[in-house]
Amino acid sequence: MTPPPQTSHRAPAAVVSRQPVAVTADPSLLDEARRLAPEAVALRRTLHGSPELGLDLPDTQRLVLGALDGLGLEIRTGRTLSSVTAVLAGSADGPTILLRADMDALPVTEETGLPFASRAPGLMHACGHDAHTAMLVGAARLLAARREGMSGRVAFMFQPGEEGHHGARHMIEEGVLEASGRRADAAFALHVHPNLPAGALRLRPGPQMAASDRFRVLVRGRGGHASAPHTTCDPVPVVCEIVLALQTMITRSLSVDDNAVLSVTRLTAGRATGIIPDTAELGGTLRTLSEPTRKMLHETITRVAQGVAAAHGAEAEATVEPGYPVTVNDPAFTGFVLRTAGGALGTETVDVLTAAQMTAEDFSYVLQAVPGALAFLGACPPDLEPHEAPSLHSSRMDMNEDVIASGIACHAAVALAFLAGSGPEPAP
Ligand code: NI
Repeated sequence: MTPPPQTSHRAPAAVVSRQPVAVTADPSLLDEARRLAPEAVALRRTLHGSPELGLDLPDTQRLVLGALDGLGLEIRTGRTLSSVTAVLAGSADGPTILLRADMDALPVTEETGLPFASRAPGLMHACGHDAHTAMLVGAARLLAARREGMSGRVAFMFQPGEEGHHGARHMIEEGVLEASGRRADAAFALHVHPNLPAGALRLRPGPQMAASDRFRVLVRGRGGHASAPHTTCDPVPVVCEIVLALQTMITRSLSVDDNAVLSVTRLTAGRATGIIPDTAELGGTLRTLSEPTRKMLHETITRVAQGVAAAHGAEAEATVEPGYPVTVNDPAFTGFVLRTAGGALGTETVDVLTAAQMTAEDFSYVLQAVPGALAFLGACPPDLEPHEAPSLHSSRMDMNEDVIASGIACHAAVALAFLAGSGPEPAP
């Protein structure tokens, strides 16, 4: 995912209770995570050099299985995708928390010049999923060493196909939420973010990231000679009017509290300057922060397109291809993460995310089924200001590897505190 740079205004104070109550995390976790970090950084660099795309990541899967070997985890691999699910059982019974890392890369040619840069032509870990994988392996190592004191289980979800391939949904269909023998009671994931200060943890209750859907409108008119438009039904001005009408629709039909973004990113019509074409087409992306608004806008896109076209005697066919749902953080779990991560990483590094970001994540499928949260972990490279750092998905995306220790500690702190009963009550 590609979060835009963070704005500087702050969230209303009432969004989440931040009283320093029951800070349950052990500050020594961060020291332990720092001891594990060199190994995790080495794994991240190995993964970075050999990125793979989509649902089939055989080399990545092999590296993860190798890194988890010997930790005493119950491991399963995917049937239809190269996922890894690993379950750590504590010494006593208790709830299950699921921790997730995504593992896939992007079709980007790397331009960082890093000594461990991608050796796969046209592929790059430009979204930090190499770091997510390495952090979760580190957390598995840290937690495995503490299993004697744990009541419950930790399910580690290493998923392929986050970048548009619905990998999380496939893993849910293959039973990842029940991997420990009972349905997961909570779920947590981290996403590194080069446009936030290194080590900063940011999350918010409710929508953290948007739903992302693609749409397409095909306008059918009647072509002819460009010198005689009165003998045609020209679809070109019609499709242009639809672009403007869709923008007006967004500004006029939504409350300021319920943001949405609609961007038309593709316009195609005709092939010659002397010919009015029969058809014209537009395509774009719709980002929404609530399911009712998402559904309403799907219907409105069709109505606006058909209405504008009809006004000109043309016809419009609108299609919306649903992408990932809204990533919604459970408010109680979010408060728990803010307190716990504050205890483990230092309260000065942890804060409420000021506004939802209009990028999308397929961890949203997990959060539809299990209460939990996704948090951004700031990873601005050294010597850059967060607003200067190349964003996620950029061919120059880089990160501060010091935050890998923070990520390991954060995963471990959230899991340990949840299993110790400091989290929100599991649903009955
Ligand atoms: Ni990502």
